[in-house]
Amino acid sequence: MNQRRILVTAALPYANGPIHMGHLVEYIQTDIWVRFQKLRGHNCTFVCADDTHGTAIMISAKKAGISEEEWIEKIRQQHIESFNGFDIQFDNYGSTNSPENKELCHQFWTKLKEADIVIEKDVTQLYDCEAETYLADRFVHGTCPYCKSENQYGDNCDKCGHTYSPTDLIDPVSTLSGSTPEIRTAAHLFVQLEKFHDFLNEWTQDGNHLQKEVANYLKGHFLGEPLRDWDISRPGPYFGFEIPDSPNNFWYVWFDAPIGYIASTKQWCDKNNENFDEIWKNPETEIHHFIGKDITYFHTLFWPAMLKTAEFNLPTKVHIHGFLTVGGEKMSKTKGTFINADMYRKHLNPAWLRYYYASKLGSRLDDIDLNLDEFVNKINSDLIGKVINLASRTAKFMKGESLTAEYPDDGGLFEHAAKQGEQIAASYENCDYNSAMREIMLLADRANKYVEDNAPWTLKKDPDRKNELHQICTVSLNLFRQLVIYLSPVLPELAEQTGELLGQPVEHWDESQKPLLNITVNKFKHMMKRIDSQKVEDMIEESKVPDETEAPQFNDSSEPLEKEPLEAENCNFDEFMKIDLRVARVVEAKEVEESNKLLQLTLSLGGDNNFNVFAGIKGVYNPEDLLGKLVVCCANLEPRKMRFGVSEGMVLAAGAGGKEIYILNPDEGAKPGHRVH
Ligand code: MSP
Ligand code: ZN
Repeated sequence: MNQRRILVTAALPYANGPIHMGHLVEYIQTDIWVRFQKLRGHNCTFVCADDTHGTAIMISAKKAGISEEEWIEKIRQQHIESFNGFDIQFDNYGSTNSPENKELCHQFWTKLKEADIVIEKDVTQLYDCEAETYLADRFVHGTCPYCKSENQYGDNCDKCGHTYSPTDLIDPVSTLSGSTPEIRTAAHLFVQLEKFHDFLNEWTQDGNHLQKEVANYLKGHFLGEPLRDWDISRPGPYFGFEIPDSPNNFWYVWFDAPIGYIASTKQWCDKNNENFDEIWKNPETEIHHFIGKDITYFHTLFWPAMLKTAEFNLPTKVHIHGFLTVGGEKMSKTKGTFINADMYRKHLNPAWLRYYYASKLGSRLDDIDLNLDEFVNKINSDLIGKVINLASRTAKFMKGESLTAEYPDDGGLFEHAAKQGEQIAASYENCDYNSAMREIMLLADRANKYVEDNAPWTLKKDPDRKNELHQICTVSLNLFRQLVIYLSPVLPELAEQTGELLGQPVEHWDESQKPLLNITVNKFKHMMKRIDSQKVEDMIEESKVPDETEAPQFNDSSEPLEKEPLEAENCNFDEFMKIDLRVARVVEAKEVEESNKLLQLTLSLGGDNNFNVFAGIKGVYNPEDLLGKLVVCCANLEPRKMRFGVSEGMVLAAGAGGKEIYILNPDEGAKPGHRVH
């Protein structure tokens, strides 16, 4: 067989938040494809990286009070850990903020300039003077210029559906700082994509680089008219690479992100002494990108044009998948269906998700629905009931025993399953994992029927039928192993466990074509648990985030009022004004040692207007917690002589008494000395 040289990439996740179950559709899909290619004996390399540049990341770092570099490294480590947890095995996991990427961006830039396809144009954008940044559309809110509904995004209105420019918004507000942005104009650099129109027509429509639906979509939506110039620069401050011949201008994140695929490959080559040009310059090497449908434009129009200009290999294929829905709906934080990778792992086994996604993924762009009941059923009935069952019901009878030296007559089961191998492999190759899983489960049904019909547990009871027992178990374990080999791109851990059980690691697809004979079976160790649907519910419950857009619910009890009804006589305004209430700052607080109720507070009304108060809150408040706090006090209460000194006022507090005493604090902005009306 011809060994193919294949480079595979998955989209570079933004370094702006954790990996979630939606992302995992892609990374699991890609990992399965890579493991499949490796198992078939091809020379396949899988690279990825974090996508680290742009305004959003700049802002997140600022909010967290750390540098962008610290922020992206922290997120990168989290991403790596999540991927490891799901057995997603990259050969290299880089960062777009790497020296390799910077160097490659320069190379691309030089070629683009040489080709004379970069032009400069003025762009008018909203600028946030407080946050000191130009505002991407999603960071602006305002009133729709068409239907006047409030609180709409900068680029389109979800009430009337109009699209517009953020500079057209009425009363725009920056969501970053809450300030009113101003309109500023700056020079941006654009790539004239139209110059590639003929090339892109050909590349997207011929040569099988794209799924048919994608090719048609591009033809209908973009290629029917002139391609628009592509804005690839952003004025600083911007977290990214500065453009060499354009000071304080930075490459837009989508310029350097796909180049990150190449940079990560470069890193891998340098680490492993591999020839970089063999991968990105030798047209014999296949390049496969896996992405979600939302980033189609960048990968199928812009990216091929860039690669062509910079004289790198063009993608052999861009594999595009749909989006994850849960229970038929978009993932929702309030419903608890926006589930992070780590949250999933806390409750459930990653192998289950790998199998479930595989059983749902086809080669089309349809969205993938995670149906939680179906998830539980599929795992329990397919993986546990059909696959693991084959081993758990037979391996125990063979512990320390040898498989037969010749393969027994199994009525053609093994041979049939071996023949199906090529069909299953073709399904994997085409990303039709659901067909592959269906085919494998049909084989599992046949194998289970064999075990059922031959009931090794009955033979076990009869010492005279030991030979027969060994034969039945030899067949069962071989049928099991064959399925595990077919499943191993999806379930690498199961393949490993099976390797241990039979003392023979799963290393090549072709091992499914020949039965294992004459080897000693090791002790059967537990392989995989059933799903307990309670665990799924717990995960959903723990993922729920209260909806901040929902009106808050107030459910105060009437108990305090019942305990102390409104009985005081009315007072007139003058009477009320007789009480001189003031804002004061606690500038000293200490316990009165001889008293078990009192704290001694020095209150300041500003300047050196201090006075002394004894408050009955010892044991309720720690003196050090009160220090510096603003309180409300009655400043004209007649001084009262007490055992420990004179109390010259009173701090206002509410509560039922005992430990339930709560000091009143004025709202932010009030100053010591302000009168309280
Ligand atoms: N940083 C860009 C990709 C740059 S590639 C040069 C990006 N990052 S992302 O974190 O938003 O998404 C990473 C990948 O996950 C994308 O291919 C995206 O389509 C995919 N998915 C993100 N959410 C998804 C779902 N809910 N469902 C399926 N795939 C999803 O885009
Ligand atoms: Zn509108």
